[in-house]
Amino acid sequence: MSDNKTFYVTTPIYYVNDKPHIGHAYTTVAADVISRYKRMCGYDVFFLTGTDEHGQKMELSAQKQGLKPIELADKNNERFRALWKELNISNDDFIRTTQSRHKEAVWEMIRKMQSNGDIYLGEYEGWYCTPCEAYWTETQLLEGNLCPDCGRETAKLKESSYFFKMSKYEDAILEHINNNPDFIRPESRRNEIISFIKEGLRDLSISRINFSWGIPMEENEKHVIYVWVDALTNYLSALGYFNEESHRKKYWPADFHLVGKDILRFHTVYWPAMLFSAGIPLPKSVFAHGWWTVDGQKMSKSMGNAIDPFWLVEIFGRDAFRYFLMREVPFGLDGDFSFKALIHRINGDLANDLGNLVSRSIGMVKKYFDGIVPAYTDKESIDENVHNAIAKSANDVDNHLSKLAYNKALLSIWESISVMNRYIDEAKPWVLAKDESKRGRLGSVLYTVLDGLRAVSHLVYPFMPETALEIRRQIGSDDKINLTCQEDLSKVCLLKSGEKLPESTSIFPRLDEKEMLEKIYGKKEEKKEELMQEDNLIDFSTFEQVEIKAGKVLEVEQVKKSEKLLKLLVDVGDGGRTIVSGIAKSYHPDDLKGKVIAVVTNLKPAKLMGIESCGMILAASNGERHFVLELPESITAGTKIK
Ligand code: ME8
Repeated sequence: MSDNKTFYVTTPIYYVNDKPHIGHAYTTVAADVISRYKRMCGYDVFFLTGTDEHGQKMELSAQKQGLKPIELADKNNERFRALWKELNISNDDFIRTTQSRHKEAVWEMIRKMQSNGDIYLGEYEGWYCTPCEAYWTETQLLEGNLCPDCGRETAKLKESSYFFKMSKYEDAILEHINNNPDFIRPESRRNEIISFIKEGLRDLSISRINFSWGIPMEENEKHVIYVWVDALTNYLSALGYFNEESHRKKYWPADFHLVGKDILRFHTVYWPAMLFSAGIPLPKSVFAHGWWTVDGQKMSKSMGNAIDPFWLVEIFGRDAFRYFLMREVPFGLDGDFSFKALIHRINGDLANDLGNLVSRSIGMVKKYFDGIVPAYTDKESIDENVHNAIAKSANDVDNHLSKLAYNKALLSIWESISVMNRYIDEAKPWVLAKDESKRGRLGSVLYTVLDGLRAVSHLVYPFMPETALEIRRQIGSDDKINLTCQEDLSKVCLLKSGEKLPESTSIFPRLDEKEMLEKIYGKKEEKKEELMQEDNLIDFSTFEQVEIKAGKVLEVEQVKKSEKLLKLLVDVGDGGRTIVSGIAKSYHPDDLKGKVIAVVTNLKPAKLMGIESCGMILAASNGERHFVLELPESITAGTKIK
């Protein structure tokens, strides 16, 4: 393998404040496909993925779950790794930003930027969106001070901060984008970034002092390095870029950073500015893919529609899922996930076209040749249809994949599959089989198809590695056929004749749509409940079980020998019931008499200081005193509160 034929592809490093979903799977599968393809063509590939574990978002999520940030990071990190295993992801490394190799690299990066005079201490005043970990100016915000990216609330910040002189690199970045048409892909996104830069780049606040979960500034530990400066450096730290002895330095600059459109700006403005400042070459291309919605809606936990990729693999199989992701939507555009669409793809492309071709071809070899791969003796010109189709597909796949047009690459492979299906229909082996004198030709037709399947198995390998190997196993093709360059993909007549075919089963059985949908929706409800339990969310029917009513306070007295408790007689539409409440330090009995308040009326009675209490008064506490929830006096006792 020659040293200069390297290929370096990265995925974003995913936040570990939550579990992985199909959006994460999408980018990672795309990176896996191109990595497998390039390896197959003889490249020395380095495929990197990993997790982004620092920042305020992580700190807050961990707090909410009663965990330390590193505990939450460890827990979700395992989930990401497990998913990549499930999906047959062939990454060469997995970087975590909490690893010391990464911390060292971030410090070195900052040192380099500092030595170029690009970092200074100042005061930041502006707005911060924690879910996006992004800074905004007042003019950029949507009405109500909402984040222009995600629409959520931002918080006003005024604090001491280190700044990076990003504005200094405005012209250099624009020039780079203009001189390198492939730097930002697809083209539509390029214009978006150019307009963003032309609005003017400001210096970037690169440190925070209001939380601690992150990499501290070396010279001033109170300051935590901005999570994006930390995260972007992962693409270098995994290479050991600043370590002279690292054998991975050769992979830089990266061939592709694959990112979702949501984080393109960070990769094509902040990252290039940092690299310019540190004197490091820029990545060759940043490709922004679109966003998946589910049944037309944005994926979100609270909607209960975030699709669990583990579950999809369990139901449909990893290769069908991988195929769907790559085939359904052009890389770069938004797409919608639906179970119906997935089932249609599986039944149409995988079961009907590919699966059927494999099983009918093998079936005929078993029927007419006792399962022995026949020889290719009696050639005819029609065979060229198959040979030419393979050569064309191989060429087109290379072209399309060089532009990450995954769906077009698959379409061109499927052209070969349909040429082969048509070839069988035209050559009619079942007619040839009736004439003993055509036995040589019958064998040649079946050989052409099996050998075509061998070639197809190579072409689909990057997309569906398991299926490709299974096809090869079923057609008796040994895996030693070494592919060392792209041209090998178009070669034909490589299958060995005389091999006995092993046992085989259908590679993609047809799915019964109705049955599958029932299974899925049944399971979806279970999943929804699981999700809600994890989130401490309750559904509406649970909430409805709590009966809250307006109650008129008829009488109030202090409970004897208790400083805290008041005994109240409250009419909640039942004429009056006794309720004991721990609000005596905040209210004198006279304060509450005659008031209309909110009462939980269906709690099981409980005894307090020997008095049976039948209900609970709703009150808020500010730590010093209680405030009973009062209602206007016009509300009748017994009115339900919903
Ligand atoms: O942004 N459709 O991490 P993240 C398609 N840590 N892709 C989606 C998606 C959807 N609905 N949702 C997420 C971060 N993705 C940072 C990255 S990189 C130095 C730091 C994918 O966990 C897509 O690739 O929020 C997106 O860019 C990535 O997940 C964001 O993952």
